[in-house]
Amino acid sequence: MQKSDLEKLFTAALSASMNSYSPYSHFPVGAALLMEDGSVVTGCNVENRSYGLTNCAERSAVFSAISKGYKTFKALAIAAPQADYPVGPCGACRQVLTEFAPPDTPVIFGSNFENAVIKTLGELYPFDSLHELKG
Ligand code: THU
Repeated sequence: MQKSDLEKLFTAALSASMNSYSPYSHFPVGAALLMEDGSVVTGCNVENRSYGLTNCAERSAVFSAISKGYKTFKALAIAAPQADYPVGPCGACRQVLTEFAPPDTPVIFGSNFENAVIKTLGELYPFDSLHELKG
């Protein structure tokens, strides 16, 4: 995958972060998934006054993509524009992400494209938990 493709995907994640519902943390996050057919599905973090019910941007994007009929994705971008360092997906999201993409899937994350880090899903989630049970 070209860096310019990841830059476009990162821009989509940045726009998605503008829809973030984060009145408690004031920490907007956007995620963008590149699908096999070239389309992009986005998500943002959605918080709740019962704090533990918060849904991260990454899982919002995955659940939206699956709801639209997709089964897998080719790349993921995560934008946390208020952060002063690149924020990678949380542990719960890493587990969910690995359900729908192989270990060599690129993941780009940053507060802007200049400080963004590029890793593979396998680097972010080695020793994939329960991989033998995967559907
Ligand atoms: N958050 C995400 O949406 N994705 C991440 O990768 C890290 C954390 C959200 C959850 C919560 O709404 C806010 O960021 C602060 O933790």
